[in-house]
Amino acid sequence: MKLSFQSAASKAIAADVVATFIRQDKTLFTKEMKSLEAQFGGGISDILKAGDFSGKIGETALAYPDRGSKTPRVLLVGLGENIPDNDANAWLERYRRAAAAAAKRAYTLKAKRLALALPSLGQRSSDGIVAFAEGAALALYKFDKYITKNENNKHVVESIVLCSQEQSVKNSGVKSVAFASAIVEGTYRARDLSNAPGNEIYPETLAKTAQETGRRSGFKVTVFDEKRIKSLGMGGIIGVCKGSARQPRFIILEYKKAAGQPVVLVGKGVTFDTGGISIKPSASMGEMKMDMSGAAAVIGTFEAVAKLKLPVNIVGLIPAVENMPSGTATRPGDILRHYNGKTSEVDNTDAEGRLILADALGYAERYNPAAVIDLATLTGACVVALGHVVTGLMGNDEVLMQKLKSAGEKTYERVWPLPLFDEYEKLIKSDVADVKNVGGRWAGAITAGWFLKKFIGNYKWAHLDIAGTAILEEKGDYTQRGGSGVGVRLLTEYLRNWK
Ligand code: BES
Ligand code: MN
Ligand code: ZN
Repeated sequence: MKLSFQSAASKAIAADVVATFIRQDKTLFTKEMKSLEAQFGGGISDILKAGDFSGKIGETALAYPDRGSKTPRVLLVGLGENIPDNDANAWLERYRRAAAAAAKRAYTLKAKRLALALPSLGQRSSDGIVAFAEGAALALYKFDKYITKNENNKHVVESIVLCSQEQSVKNSGVKSVAFASAIVEGTYRARDLSNAPGNEIYPETLAKTAQETGRRSGFKVTVFDEKRIKSLGMGGIIGVCKGSARQPRFIILEYKKAAGQPVVLVGKGVTFDTGGISIKPSASMGEMKMDMSGAAAVIGTFEAVAKLKLPVNIVGLIPAVENMPSGTATRPGDILRHYNGKTSEVDNTDAEGRLILADALGYAERYNPAAVIDLATLTGACVVALGHVVTGLMGNDEVLMQKLKSAGEKTYERVWPLPLFDEYEKLIKSDVADVKNVGGRWAGAITAGWFLKKFIGNYKWAHLDIAGTAILEEKGDYTQRGGSGVGVRLLTEYLRNWK
């Protein structure tokens, strides 16, 4: 699906569906509907009279123009009730949702070419275009490559053209749509990786995909094999992969288009998490093919950043393993020695993410980083606390955390802080090692965060627990059931503001 920008009036656009966006506000609504009726006819006044469309957010109504229009269909899409003009982030999310509704309706109409006739964007011209493009494109994502039925007539929306004649929009249109394309491609990559089953994506193939993506989009990828991982003393990675027939990988991504210390992004890459000897119940264990969503977000972010040629210096670190039970697996009670020399007692082999992240966080110190941000589907406890709505945020630097919070509000990949108070530390005290990998029943997201904190170096650090936001049980406006690709838009926005 191709995104592009055109400076044109809605009447002049040749597309199978032209979507036009209408506010619910009483006076504006009537005015906008009247102007559409004047342009297209097509029974738009009948839609009004019948009360079939009121401009509610996401609401749609279809009209068939009967006056000199190049399009056979005009789709009315609601933008919802008025919100303060200065609440930019709320408007951007409205745009995404409205564009998503337009795209999904175009898809059910089997349209190949969709045009979005943008409303007046005021002060939000470039962010607004990006939001419209993202919303439409992300809503059309499907993971259907394994469905063989109807292989030949699988329908796709081939192109989405964003159109406007507003001067400020015309000025930034092409650039903003190119920006959105890179973001969408990165997010699609992350979703594809997450959704891919464990027999397709395992440490070796995850590394291969990273390498291919790097070659195509312009970043460097280095892969350490098991021997190298062992000789580096990454005992967490070795410990977790021991039960699996699949070898581990340690994947390093590098993109340097700025001088100075890098930002290091660390992604949990558990390509399948059975729990190991502390095996999980079988109900919905299949979801754990997405336990590498942190890694997917890092790879997707590198793809977006490289395609955008952002002037930043970033390093990505991905410990990739499969967590399986077997005769060679790590046992509860085993003690591992991590990259930085510290030891951990494995009380529960299902708390494996923190064990491999401990090695990566130690390794990050080598880069003398300006900041380290890790993303991990780390705890069920985080899903209990925050649901699928918002990502859990922990860390040691208020400024870094605040920046992530702002980027989250703008992209609507929101994050919310959980405290790393000192009192929680004793919950992961071990009698036989430096730290224990589980903290008991309470505050599970926080004790996991505290475990990571024990392994960070002397740098600014933020931890994002994406267990709830990366793996979705239900579809949303522009997300599907399954892997959401969360993190790509958040991190790209964070890096775009990097100085
Ligand atoms: N990958 C899981 C966390 C998870 C659970 C992510 C559900 C997404 C949805 C992680 O490795 C795990 O198993 N965590 C345990 C930790 C416990 C043993 C302390 C958990 O949350 O139950
Ligand atoms: Mn686990
Ligand atoms: Zn896991």
